[in-house]
Amino acid sequence: MSTATPDPKLPQHVAIIMDGNGRWAQQRGLPRVAGHRAGTENIRGIVKACAELNIPYLTLFAFSTENWQRPSLEVEGLMFILSEFIDRETQELHRQGVHLRHLGSLIGVSDALRRKIEHALDVTRDNRRLTLAIAFNYGGRADLVQAVQAIVAQGIAPEQITEQMIADHLSTAHMPDPDLIIRTSGEMRISNFLIWETAYAEYWTTPTYWPDFTADHFEQAIQEYSQRERRFGRVSPPA
Ligand code: IPE
Ligand code: IPE
Ligand code: MG
Repeated sequence: MSTATPDPKLPQHVAIIMDGNGRWAQQRGLPRVAGHRAGTENIRGIVKACAELNIPYLTLFAFSTENWQRPSLEVEGLMFILSEFIDRETQELHRQGVHLRHLGSLIGVSDALRRKIEHALDVTRDNRRLTLAIAFNYGGRADLVQAVQAIVAQGIAPEQITEQMIADHLSTAHMPDPDLIIRTSGEMRISNFLIWETAYAEYWTTPTYWPDFTADHFEQAIQEYSQRERRFGRVSPPA
């Protein structure tokens, strides 16, 4: 992460709902899993664009707690593709100074995949150029439930509970709240993504399906974000 004062017009944290892989594949007469593969191939270029713009935090929504309800063939395909992604990309991400984080739970994930994820997190833990958080087996409500459970388990008195304490027990602890949420494929919903953290986030959507989303689209989103006025409930933006 750069030690320079952050540019207030530049988001510090961009989070992307990578949506539309299935429709991208259907449009081409391919199985949905082919769309997930193409979508995963697309990640490299967006990470690079983010690092080049000096945006220090990028979160990608890869698999939700609700996505387990998809056909088992698709779920198995997604697990396999993620496993391949880790094998193929970890060293390169490490070389680029990317610190990998995982948001969500590894409960219910196969032992082999869990070990792979833990290894990738460990290898990249000291990198500081860009934090890349992968929301995998992630649901905003499930994350809030585990945070509340952790707080209660510590025997904290009700009057001691603060917003900061809740934030500190979420998967996103020690990351700034996302400034900008990008959703591809034209859907206009949050789908249980970062429901606490997006309280004051800006939204940007595009009808483009995720496998076709390019660095140019990403830069357009950042450019439009930089024109917006964020007020956080005030009359004018905070100084
Ligand atoms: C996003 O693409 C990837 C995941 C949810 C895993 P989709 O698979 O949701 O694609 P569409 O929305 O069906 O086109
Ligand atoms: C959100 O997309 C989850 C991911 C992108 C991983 P979905 O495609 O699962 O969301 P819904 O079902 O359209 O709301
Ligand atoms: Mg979808």
